[in-house]
Parts: sequence; structure tokens; C-alpha cells
Amino acid sequence: MSVAEQSIAGAEARGHGFLASSVGRKVVMAATGVILFGFVTVHMIGNTQAYMGAETFNGYAKFLHSMLHGAGIWLFRGVLLAAVGLHIWAAVSLTLDNRAARPVGYRAQQPVASTWASRTMRWSGFILAAFIIYHLMHLTVGNVHPSFDPANPYANFVSGFKAPAAAGFYIVAQLCLGLHMWHGVWSTTQSLGLVHPRYDALRRTIATGLTVLVVGVNISFPIAVLTGFIH
Ligand code: HEM
Repeated sequence: MSVAEQSIAGAEARGHGFLASSVGRKVVMAATGVILFGFVTVHMIGNTQAYMGAETFNGYAKFLHSMLHGAGIWLFRGVLLAAVGLHIWAAVSLTLDNRAARPVGYRAQQPVASTWASRTMRWSGFILAAFIIYHLMHLTVGNVHPSFDPANPYANFVSGFKAPAAAGFYIVAQLCLGLHMWHGVWSTTQSLGLVHPRYDALRRTIATGLTVLVVGVNISFPIAVLTGFIH
């Protein structure tokens, strides 16, 4: 099948709606990316309560689980799961389309106007997905935690990060989160049409500032436990 035939076959298999267009799926990626970015930022702010001691942190966890008589957290989990699912679906389907449009590949790829972060979006996304599964098993379900106590999230936090391998994986995953977020903010502002020499410095500053803040604070948690600052 020729390249043109493959592209036509791919487009026909998807149908002709908004989501069939690559622009539609890029909008889905950006919108779900904004939701996930918002969650990661709020989650990071919430977790800073670990610096205020066991009572504050456990009180915060209790509040999250009792919102709307316990229905709030399930509502929130549903939205988050849908956002993650749609984000991954849009990413995979756009990647498959790009491959179908260029089945032979470049002999020597010469990236033009692309950054290291943009080229690493796929594997940083893959490591992040693995991290989220591990993180839920570690601090929410507790089945990979050495001494999980559902009634004491603070103790789970501290004893969880005392294991250097677990703390190390969290740190590596946050660095991947940083790469992913940095390029995500950069390309979302690009999709919003903010491409202009006048805005480029501002976009770069916002992308870098937000990423350094979220990643820096997140990395501080395992480090604070390993150094005994949080105990
Ligand atoms: C070092 C950084 C992080 C720390 C210390 C941390 C800590 C925690 C803790 C303690 C919980 C359990 C809360 C509870 O059950 O009461 C939790 C839940 C969760 N975390 Fe994190 N987290 C971190 C980074 C992340 C990142 C980067 C993501 C996503 C990319 C994430 C996604 C989640 C999700 C989805 C939940 C489950 C919420 C629920 O109960 O439905 N976390 N986190």
C-alpha cells in the first residue's frame, strides 16, 4: 500500500468527526493536559502539609476522603481517570497516524525547531504511567508498601520514603514529570496561538517556572524523609 493509500485508509477507519482530525485530538491532549497539570499542582500543594506534622497531614487526607460524604473522592477519581485515559489515547493515536504517514522513516533524522524534551515526550510519558501505577499501589492501596496503615497516611509517607529504592524511583519519576510538563506547557501555549517572538520568552519563563516549582517541591518530600527532616 502506498503512503497516500495508508493515510486515506487510516482516516477512513477513524471516521470524519472532530476527534478524527488531528487538530481535534490535539485539543483533547491539551485540555486533558491542563486538567492533569492542575491536579499535579494542587496535589503538590496539599502534600506540603507533611512539613506541618502528622496531625495536619492526616487531617488533610481525612478531609479528601470525606468530601460530599465520601462521594467527592470518587467523582474526582472518575474525572482524573477519564483525563488520563483520553490523554494517552490521543497521544497513541496521533503517534500511530504520524507513523502511517511516514512508514519508511528518515534515514538521518535532523530535528528542526524541536527540543530534547519534545523528543522524549513518549518515554517520559511511559515512565510517568508506570510511576502512577506504582504510586497508587504504594501510598493509596498499600500492597507494595512495607508497613501500610490505611488510618495513618503520614506514617505511610515517612516509612515509604525511608526505603532508598522507592525514594530514588520517586525522584527519577519527578524528573520525567518535569520534562513532560515543561514541553506540555510549551506546546499548549503554542496550540493556543501564542507563537510570537514577543511571547516566546514569556512562554519559556512560565513553562520553566511552573515545572521547577512542582518538580522541586515534589523531590523535596523523599529527600526530607531520607535526611530525617520529616520523621
Ligand atoms: C513526591 C511526590 C508525591 C507525593 C509525596 C505524593 C503523595 C501521595 C499520597 C500520600 C497519596 C495518598 C493520599 C491518601 O490516600 O490519603 C497520594 C495519592 C495519589 N497521588 Fe500522589 N504524591 C506525589 C506525586 C504524585 C504525582 C506526580 C502524581 C501524578 C502524576 C500523583 C498522583 C496521585 C494520585 C492519582 C493519587 C490517588 C488519589 C486518590 O486517592 O484517588 N502523585 N499521593
